[in-house]
Amino acid sequence: MPVITCIDDLKRLHKRRTPKMFYDYCESGSYTEQTFRENTSDFQRLRLRQKVAVDMLGRRTDGTMIGEKVAMPVALAPVGMTGMQRADGEIKAARAAEKAGVPFTLSTMSICSIEDIAEHTKAPFWFQLYVMKDEGFVDSAIERARAAGCSALVLTLDLQILGQRHKDLKNGLSAPPRLTLRNILDMAIRPQWSLEMLATKRRTFRNIVGHAKGVGDLSSLMSWTNEQFDPQLDWKKIARIRDQWGGKLILKGILDEDDARAAADFGADAIIVSNHGGRQLDGALSSIRMLPRIVRAVGDKTEVFLDSGIRSGQDVLKALALGAKGTMIGRAYIHGLGAMGEEGVTKALEVIRKELDITMALCGEKSVENLGRHNLLIPKDFEGDYL
Ligand SMILES: Cc1cc2nc3c(=O)[nH]c(=O)nc-3n(C[C@H](O)[C@H](O)[C@H](O)COP(=O)(O)O)c2cc1C
Repeated sequence: MPVITCIDDLKRLHKRRTPKMFYDYCESGSYTEQTFRENTSDFQRLRLRQKVAVDMLGRRTDGTMIGEKVAMPVALAPVGMTGMQRADGEIKAARAAEKAGVPFTLSTMSICSIEDIAEHTKAPFWFQLYVMKDEGFVDSAIERARAAGCSALVLTLDLQILGQRHKDLKNGLSAPPRLTLRNILDMAIRPQWSLEMLATKRRTFRNIVGHAKGVGDLSSLMSWTNEQFDPQLDWKKIARIRDQWGGKLILKGILDEDDARAAADFGADAIIVSNHGGRQLDGALSSIRMLPRIVRAVGDKTEVFLDSGIRSGQDVLKALALGAKGTMIGRAYIHGLGAMGEEGVTKALEVIRKELDITMALCGEKSVENLGRHNLLIPKDFEGDYL
C-alpha cells in the first residue's frame, strides 16, 4: 500500500491506473490551458501569516453551506463521466462524501444515475443540471432529483457551448471507450480498472439514456448531447427552472461581478465562483483572483462558494480567508477515485481536512468562521489592474 501524504500522490496513481483518455479528460483545460494553470499557481501567490503563542486547542473545521451542516466547507463538485475514472465512480465518491460529512454533487453527465446514488447513500446529495433545449428532459430531471431527495439544485451556467480541449479530440473520448486497438491495449495494461468496469452494468450516461426522448443507444446519445445544450439560456429560462424546482438553488460558473450581482438579486441561495476548472473560457482570470471583487459585489445577499484550482487544505483556507463561505473540489477527489476508488476519495478528503486543520492552528485560528484577510499576505497586484 503506497503512503499517501498529499493530493499529488493520488494524482500520480490516478495517471498510472486509469486509461489515458479518461485521465487526460480530467487533467486538461481548454485551448492553451492558461486559465487551468493559473487556477492553481495563483493560489501559490497568496501567502499565509504565521501566528504563535495562541491557544490552539479545540479547533473545528465544521461549518454550514446553504444551511446544511458540513464537517468542513468543502463539497464535491459535479464531474461528468466520473464512473469512467473507476467503475461506479459516482456511487463511490458519494459514499466517501457521506462518510466524511460533506456534500456530494451529481453531474447531469454522470455515468451513475440520480436513482443509483439515492439507492446507495442515505445523505441528501446535490444535483447539477445542464440546461438542455428539450424542456421535457429538464423537467423530468428536476422531478427525478426531487424524488431522490436532493437538497439543492446546482445550475451550471458556463457550459452552454463547449470550450475545446485538444486532448479529448485527439484521444477520441467516449463512454464507454470505442474498441480500437489503441484503446484495447490501454485498458489491457490496467487490469483492475478493466475488470471492475466489466463487472458493472453502469458504463454510459444513465441520467440521459432511457430518460431523453429518442436516446436509446450510444450513437443517438452522441448526437443528442451535441445538439442539446441550450445556447439561448438566459435569466428568464433560469427563472422557469427555479420555479419548477422550488428548492435551494445554487448558480455555478459565475466569474464576473455584474453576473454575481444579478445572481444575488435573482435570489440564488449560493453562487459558485468558478471557471469550470479552466475547461471553458481560456484566458479568463483564475477563480481565486476574481473572488474578492465578487464578495464585495454581493455582500451577504447570497453565499459565495469557490472552485477551480483547489488542491490542498491550505487552498481551502485561502479561499475562506478571502470571503468564500464554502469551496468545491473537482480534480482533487477525482485523483483519489482514479487512484484507489472509494478509499481514495476518502483519502483525498482526509488529506484536505488535515491540511486545513493544521494550517488553521499555525495561523492561530480555531474555527473556519474566524478566517479572514488578517490570515493572508496578499500581493498588491493580486486582483489585477486591468482596464
Ligand atoms: C473532468 C471534469 C468534468 C467536469 N464535469 C462537469 C460537469 O459535468 N458539470 C459541471 O457543472 N462541472 C463540471 N466540471 C467542473 C467542476 O464541477 C469544477 O468546477 C472544477 O472541477 C473545479 O476545478 P478543480 O478541478 O481545479 O477543482 C468538470 C470538471 C472536470 C475536471
